[in-house]
Amino acid sequence: MGMLVVDNITKKYEGEKYALHQISFSIPSEGIFALIGRNGAGKTTLVRILATQLEATSGRASIDGIDVTSDPEKLRSEIACVPQEARTVGWLTPRQFIVSYLLWRGFRYAEAKRRADEAARTLGIHRYMDSTSRKLSGGTRRKVLVAAAVASGARILFLDEPTTGLDPISRGDLWRTLMYLKKKHFIFLTTHYLEEAEKLADKIGILENGKLMALGTLQDLRDKAKFPYSIKILSKMTVKKPKDGVLVKGIDGNYQIATTEKEAYRISTRLIMDGVRFSMNPMNLDDIFYYIVRKPIEEDEYDQEEKW
Ligand SMILES: Nc1ncnc2c1ncn2[C@@H]1O[C@H](COP(=O)(O)OP(=O)(O)O)[C@@H](O)[C@H]1O
Ligand SMILES: [Mg+2]
Repeated sequence: MGMLVVDNITKKYEGEKYALHQISFSIPSEGIFALIGRNGAGKTTLVRILATQLEATSGRASIDGIDVTSDPEKLRSEIACVPQEARTVGWLTPRQFIVSYLLWRGFRYAEAKRRADEAARTLGIHRYMDSTSRKLSGGTRRKVLVAAAVASGARILFLDEPTTGLDPISRGDLWRTLMYLKKKHFIFLTTHYLEEAEKLADKIGILENGKLMALGTLQDLRDKAKFPYSIKILSKMTVKKPKDGVLVKGIDGNYQIATTEKEAYRISTRLIMDGVRFSMNPMNLDDIFYYIVRKPIEEDEYDQEEKW
């Protein structure tokens, strides 16, 4: 079985803080891997390093035994990348766009045309192959980009935020396409939609501030979050760390508690009596992300004066 191995990759841009800091993980190079993280987390930097477009400051990586830095040429024929900023060219038809991409990758014209047709059928965009791109919907244009990558024959596809900016229907449609493509391809995608990772990914990595905070299946991440219930305090107030649970402070300054069912019951009863606004739900991926990326607040850090 092939593997993607990332070994202590660090990237520091000129004069900047670390965009990636000592990232190490290894996963089978099959199915869909979703790297999730907020803007600026370092997703694109990692994709560009693995896709041989950018050199790491230090560390190594290999895909299916081929080293990213020492053997980039060999790897390039195995991979195709749809960068975050990739757009189709408005005045080209999808056919012209895909064929141009394949000619650039070194295919002969007849072969490029054949492959473009085949990929268009796979992606279900053959009806649009001869319309100019600017007349197509955002979702179809995104599929044209993925079709070009598929047409290259590369087994490994890097898709950097493939569904950002798409409406929910086009996004669902692209998800179905990716689920179909993963039978033949290893898809490394980045996203900031947790739902996307939840729906598509066989393995999920959580990147925050250039650090890999967690990696595993959805179930692994659920286990890492440990507690089954999440309570969000909607009122501005200070709360204590529960006896059995984790307390974090969100970006909005409000508190959130992960806890057991029994403790959740006790806390919510108390909150209702105190007239505090809150919401409570079983842990979903949004919550897991929250608990993994926010630092837990320990006993000595909260204000003892508060009422509970
Ligand atoms: N070419 C660059 N020069 C300097 N800093 C950069 C460059 N590209 C990205 N960065 C910085 O590196 C960090 C990670 O960026 P990026 O990999 O684009 O994150 P993401 O894709 O998760 O939004 C950010 O702080 C960003 O500002
Ligand atoms: Mg990015």
